[in-house]
Amino acid sequence: MAKIKSKIHYLCSDCGDEFPKWHGQCPSCKEWGTLSEFKVTGKRSSLRSKALIQNSRSLTEVLAGNPGERFNTGMSEVDRVLGGGLLSGSLILLGGNPGVGKSTLALQLGNGDLKILYVTAEESEDQVAIRAKRLGIQSDQLHLSGENEIHAIESHISTVNPQLVVVDSIQTIYNEELDSIAGSISQIRECGQQLLSISKQKNVAILIIGHVTKEGTIAGPKMLEHMVDTVLYLEGDDRHDHRILRSVKNRFGPTHEVGIFQMEPDGLSEVSNPSELFLAERSENIPGTSIFPSLEGTRPILVEVQALVSNANYGTPQRNVNGFDYKRLSMLLAVLEKRMKTPMGSKDVFVNLVGGLRVDDPAADLSILCSVASSSRDQSIPDGMIIIGEVGLAGEIRSVGQIDKRLQEASALGFTHAIIPNGNYNEKTKKIKITLHPAKTVQNVFGIIF
Ligand SMILES: Nc1ncnc2c1ncn2[C@@H]1O[C@H](COP(=O)(O)OP(=O)(O)OP(=O)(O)O)[C@@H](O)[C@H]1O
Ligand SMILES: [Mg+2]
Repeated sequence: MAKIKSKIHYLCSDCGDEFPKWHGQCPSCKEWGTLSEFKVTGKRSSLRSKALIQNSRSLTEVLAGNPGERFNTGMSEVDRVLGGGLLSGSLILLGGNPGVGKSTLALQLGNGDLKILYVTAEESEDQVAIRAKRLGIQSDQLHLSGENEIHAIESHISTVNPQLVVVDSIQTIYNEELDSIAGSISQIRECGQQLLSISKQKNVAILIIGHVTKEGTIAGPKMLEHMVDTVLYLEGDDRHDHRILRSVKNRFGPTHEVGIFQMEPDGLSEVSNPSELFLAERSENIPGTSIFPSLEGTRPILVEVQALVSNANYGTPQRNVNGFDYKRLSMLLAVLEKRMKTPMGSKDVFVNLVGGLRVDDPAADLSILCSVASSSRDQSIPDGMIIIGEVGLAGEIRSVGQIDKRLQEASALGFTHAIIPNGNYNEKTKKIKITLHPAKTVQNVFGIIF
């Protein structure tokens, strides 16, 4: 028998392209230092035998097979984020920080009517069963498998014939035909590609769980995100119980939907009215607070801005700010004093962005200025309103970037009114389901709010 030769190839960790020789700069995506070595065995090319090659079909034939069947997962927030349910034959990637609740969310899908094969390559079947018991899942439709080799997983899928396969996680499964260890770029790429072909051939939805890097992106080649149909992120932090499920890519639905959950001892419970959750932590009708839709990378996050203005009884007035630039606050106070004739020289000013978030975005200016003015005047800002805009030295409101994303997020979270820069008032923003109040100057804004 001919010995299978293995040869060295180089794989780009960014775009996932493969090259026969090493380059300092990836010839495809032009990133530097992203190529790493991996061994290719001769078997790979023989994976697809002639017998597997499919004939092309006419559109009518394809449509006759009733493609695009959607299933309800039993969690309406998840269905909404997916664009109206789980689409058969789709490949979904779910990322999130360690311990945020990825496995919990995936397992809770077992509460619905779906037939699920849960491939638990990361934990033992027993550990998953213990979690399922805690989450109150009792279903004959949920099958667990501790397998972590891709071909074995494929044969399990054929045997169980599920509607959804959960792979927890992509970093722990491997293809025995490759020499590299599970979690390496070449393994993630290969297994990702095989899961893609399984999902399309067997018309089964596959949910792949992925770890995230320090920078917050899903670990592994960027190509994985290109390959899948939908990319979801589950976000949250240790101090709060709420979790946000967000889609950053969706071939079969909108990308700006968010699903809000609360982490409880018996799992993630859906929050049907998200604004209530945020307003619950917020002191309603208290002067000095406003809501600003911040943008973290590509992700919009709503931040509560709190300000307290009081008489400075002890010498030099204090200025204390958490989460925003101190000098920028001084500038905003000067604008307030000069343009709006609000004396600030003898006042202590405290500003806090709730939740420990740091915002460098000048789009937060107007929200901070309004919070300070609201506290100083002892007049609250209307509920359900978000405020956004950069403030110039003349008191003019300048337009901000990516306003539609921020407005969509606010609208999805239940906010109904938005003060925006006049320059951002256009056909695109008018279409978003939120009442817009365009403003040219700080005077205009105060006229609307107070
Ligand atoms: N008994 C419990 N009561 C309340 N919450 C719990 C309990 N056990 C676990 N949790 C919550 O579930 C979270 C862990 O969820 P899960 O294992 O689904 O996260 P994960 O994102 O899959 O993590 P990993 O990246 O480690 O796989 C914990 O951080 C905690 O918030
Ligand atoms: Mg997990």
